[in-house]
Amino acid sequence: MNLERLNTQAQQEISNVKSFQDLENWRVKYLGRKGELSLFFDSLKSLSFPLRKKQGQKGNQTRQFLLSLYQQKREDLEKNQPDFEFFDLTRPGEKIKKGYLHPLTLILREIVHSFEKIGFEVVEGPEIETEYYDFDALRMPENHPARDMWDTFWIKPKGKSRASKLLLRTQTSPMQIRYMEKHQPPFRIIVPGKCFRFEATDAQHEFQFHQVEGLMVAENISLANFKFIIREVIEDIFKHQVELRFRPSYFPFVTPGLEVDIRQKQDTRYKKQDTNEWLEIMGAGMVHPQLFKNVGYEANRWQGFAFGLGVERIAMIKYGLDDIRLFFGSDARFLEQF
Ligand code: FA5
Repeated sequence: MNLERLNTQAQQEISNVKSFQDLENWRVKYLGRKGELSLFFDSLKSLSFPLRKKQGQKGNQTRQFLLSLYQQKREDLEKNQPDFEFFDLTRPGEKIKKGYLHPLTLILREIVHSFEKIGFEVVEGPEIETEYYDFDALRMPENHPARDMWDTFWIKPKGKSRASKLLLRTQTSPMQIRYMEKHQPPFRIIVPGKCFRFEATDAQHEFQFHQVEGLMVAENISLANFKFIIREVIEDIFKHQVELRFRPSYFPFVTPGLEVDIRQKQDTRYKKQDTNEWLEIMGAGMVHPQLFKNVGYEANRWQGFAFGLGVERIAMIKYGLDDIRLFFGSDARFLEQF
C-alpha cells in the first residue's frame, strides 16, 4: 500500500474506533510488527539508496502521524469512559469515623479530676475481694444482718479459712482497710472502681456499677468538713449549683452514718408542681473508731469521714437520663453522643 493511501485509510478507520479493543486492532493493523507500515518499510529494501532514503523519511513522518492519531484517540476514549478512575483532587474527602469515650469514662474522669484538684490521691483496689475485706473488717462478721444490704456474687471458695472466701466486691469500701493497713494518717484518698451486686436490674439499679470511695483521716475532722468538700466537688462536676440533702442512715463501718441525695436546681416559677425527684447518690459517715483500732491507729487521736459515691447516678443526673441500663446496653447511637 502506498503511503498516501495508508494515511487516508488509517485516518478513516480510526474515526470509527469506539473502544479500546478497536483501537488496539487498529494499532496492530497499521503500526504492529507485521502491520502496514512495516510492510511499507520492507518494500523499500529493493530501492536504490537515494530513493530509499527519501521514502524512508516519508515513512517516518507517517509513523509520527499515525502515533499522534493513536495517542489522541486513546485520550478521547479515556475521557469518555464512564467508569474510568481518575483522581479528582477537588472532591471532598470521606469523613473518617472517630472513636469516642464511653459516657461513664468521661464522668469518672471528671469526678477524679475534681477530687484531685483539692488534694485527694487516687488509689485502686482489686475487683475480686476476700470476704474479710468486703465484710468482716468493716464490722460485718458472718451472720451480721447488715450483710443483706449487699447482695453478693460469691466465688467458689478456695481454702477452708473464712477470710480467704472470695467474692466480687460489692462496694469500694474494702480499700479503706487495705489502705489504712499500709499508711499512716493524715491522708485523703479516693478509690474509683467497679462494684457488683447480685440483684435484679431496674431503671436505677444495675448488677455492675461504679463507685468512687473517699476516705479522709486527720486530726479534728468532722462532718462539717465532709459536707463542705462534697458540695465543692459536686458543684465542680455539675458546673452549677445543685440541691443536696443529707439524711441519717446506717452502715456498720461509720458512726454516724448518712446518705446524700441530689436534685438539679429548677426554675419553678412557671411550674405548678415540682416534678424533679431526689436521687440517692452516696452513702457516707464518720469512720467507726473500731476500724482505726483494727488497723492499729490511736482511735482517740484521729477522726475521718468516708463515703461511697455512685458514678452512674451522677452521670444520669448530669446527662438527664432516666434509665441506668442505657450505659451497658451497647447501643452505639446512645453511647457516641456524649
Ligand atoms: C455502700 O456501698 C457503702 N459502701 C457506701 C459508704 C462508703 C457508706 C463509706 C459509708 C462510708 P450503698 O449500697 O448505699 O452504700 O451504695 C452507695 C451508692 O452506690 C448508692 O448511693 C448508689 O449511688 C450506688 N449504688 C448502689 N447500688 C447500686 C446499683 N445496684 N446500681 C447502681 N448504683 C448503685
